[in-house]
Amino acid sequence: MKPGLSALTHPRTIADFFTQYEKNEPFVVHHPKETLSSLRELDFLSSLDKLLSIWPYSIQAHLPDKRDESSSIDTDPAKAKKCFEEGMGLLFNEAHRLLPLLQTWLEEIRKDLGLSAQTYSRCLIYATPDGKGTAAHFDQNINFVLQIHGTKIWKLAPNEHVANPLTRHLMGTEPDNEMAGYLENELPSQMPKTAQTIELNPGSLLFVPRGYWHSTEAQGEALALNFTFTAPTWIDLFTTALRSRLALSPEWRETANGVSDPERRDEAEAYLETLLAGLKEDLPHWEAAGILGATEPLSE
Ligand SMILES: [Fe+2]
Repeated sequence: MKPGLSALTHPRTIADFFTQYEKNEPFVVHHPKETLSSLRELDFLSSLDKLLSIWPYSIQAHLPDKRDESSSIDTDPAKAKKCFEEGMGLLFNEAHRLLPLLQTWLEEIRKDLGLSAQTYSRCLIYATPDGKGTAAHFDQNINFVLQIHGTKIWKLAPNEHVANPLTRHLMGTEPDNEMAGYLENELPSQMPKTAQTIELNPGSLLFVPRGYWHSTEAQGEALALNFTFTAPTWIDLFTTALRSRLALSPEWRETANGVSDPERRDEAEAYLETLLAGLKEDLPHWEAAGILGATEPLSE
């Protein structure tokens, strides 16, 4: 099957997938041995040792304190092996750099999802020692996990605390200032009771929606390949368009002089007021098609 969303979600349909995607719900399929072989049989995924032997970049080892990538060190393959043996999970970031085929998969999945060409798409490989995994958290990105070796137990729960988070969050820590401003409910200190458990075995494919709570634990050594997409929000598209529009103006491009000087603050405010007046005149003429035409040309 050619690279893309339908190969991942097979034998379930893309329509099936989008039903879940639009509800921001997880989606899982368990591929038989013969499908997705172009990914599952990649030589560098045949074992952790093989991967370590060819990996030319640094590797993130997750320290045991938090069981989370927010507490990690960058290391080289030789030291990474030792970290793994001592029970630390390893993250191989941007693994698509290894192989154009993975870049093709990323690009095709992104287009099938209909995400912006400005999306940050990357492959991650997680190697997890027996009994280890990640503590409960949510991500601002969306993620497809393909289990390559071993078994991983995932706990997943809908996020009733914050919709469409702009940043990642580890349960039990303070939210960043911006997120604190848009929280809908107090963040939980443990996984909600409604959490479902999904067991991933070699060939299992799990879609993890944006902002969905999850934690993982490996049974035996586990290796997983992820396709991860951090897509622009409407905020990103609009502010990009706004910036390019304002950049046409020498007045908007001026250095914001005097703003921190109590003596000149009034003058600075008056100047910004004239800029805003011009923008207010311009804004009624803005149209969605024009914005997307500039930020997201369809000719690709
Ligand atoms: Fe995650």
